[in-house]
Amino acid sequence: MTEDLSKPTIIMGVTGGIAAAKSTLLASRLNKAGFDVRVIMTPNATKFVSELTFRSLTGNKVVTDMFEEPEEWDIRHVSLAKKARLAVICPATANFIGKAANGIADDMLTTTIMALGCPVVVAPAMNDAMWANDAVQANVLKLKGLGYVFAGPVTGRLACGTEGLGRMAEPDAIFDVVMHSYLAIGRSSLKGVKLLVSAGPTVEPIDPVRYIANRSSGKMGYALASAAAARGAEVTLVSGPTALSDPLNVEVKRVDTAEQMLKALEDGFEGCDAFVATAAVADYRAKEYSDRKIKKEKAGMKELELVENPDILAKLSSMKGGRLMVGFAAETEDAIESALGKYSKKGLDMIVVNEVNERNQPFGAEDNIVSIITGKGEVESLPRMSKSELSHMILDRISELMA
Ligand code: C5P
Repeated sequence: MTEDLSKPTIIMGVTGGIAAAKSTLLASRLNKAGFDVRVIMTPNATKFVSELTFRSLTGNKVVTDMFEEPEEWDIRHVSLAKKARLAVICPATANFIGKAANGIADDMLTTTIMALGCPVVVAPAMNDAMWANDAVQANVLKLKGLGYVFAGPVTGRLACGTEGLGRMAEPDAIFDVVMHSYLAIGRSSLKGVKLLVSAGPTVEPIDPVRYIANRSSGKMGYALASAAAARGAEVTLVSGPTALSDPLNVEVKRVDTAEQMLKALEDGFEGCDAFVATAAVADYRAKEYSDRKIKKEKAGMKELELVENPDILAKLSSMKGGRLMVGFAAETEDAIESALGKYSKKGLDMIVVNEVNERNQPFGAEDNIVSIITGKGEVESLPRMSKSELSHMILDRISELMA
């Protein structure tokens, strides 16, 4: 098989659990995202999913048996480990976690892991009682101390039929942790930084059926929260209603209205070092909420009275102290000029300006074109990039400003 040197190599370890079936989705997403995915399965994992499945999804031979090619194995586990930019173990059993935490290398996967010099993401999957076991928790703590990144587990239905904490996180959520851990390589750490992020739209009810809202999908804010968590920050995300799942390793508070968002952000503001306001807060809400659906024929709908919502960012900025304040702006015209106005009026350290025009439709999209304003109004215009990459660029600027 010819090697594609342009593709970063990711080692994907698959250990023996029913969640191995779901890990095929992760292999597929990593492959589609442009990684050279090298799957190593433990012999137990092959009882749940065949090697052929991973081979078909990744286009690479799957390694299972350390002694398959005796003359090569000792070279192969080291050469693969050397080439890898990142490793992800999905699912990770209690057995794997125990071995990795204690330096045991008795199969192809643990032998390779022991030779790695790159970040390792671990996605555990096990019964809730096993996860809660003191020995397992001590091993998890040890691995975290050694820099291993955990993606889950989450609470949900377990293979044994009960509900509990031990279920493997969804493959898409694990993918986000892997992607952001990969993008974080070589960039500044945000360890010890407490970051507060607002995201999504706010939804202002008019009556039990109707509401005022906007097109924000929340993707930019969620990407920023995940990116910061991957760089070691303690992140609280206050989100309006979105279709997105909670990112892993982030504390998420869900709200509906601007007033609820303000309250949740005020609660988190005291303890934060930086606040990034990506939320598209509805500017107005209905003056009176009608607890009955307003009839179309009645004047109430045509003459709906609106009142202005609080400007959350401006309000929190007035209590700024030593915190770093970052705003976002989305405008269809005179974007930079109007963002410069907001930048000084709201007392910000940085504002990220989304272009909204024929060239760029950021709402709900995976990528974006922005300019970043900092300092005395210096404007840095960035090329189109994914919201994940953009998050790390923004965090680079944030960490420079915090230094
Ligand atoms: O004034 P404008 O809405 O364009 O400002 C955008 C910035 O202000 C964003 O960072 C947004 O999160 C924040 N904002 C806010 N509360 C509002 C309106 C906007 O926090 N009511």
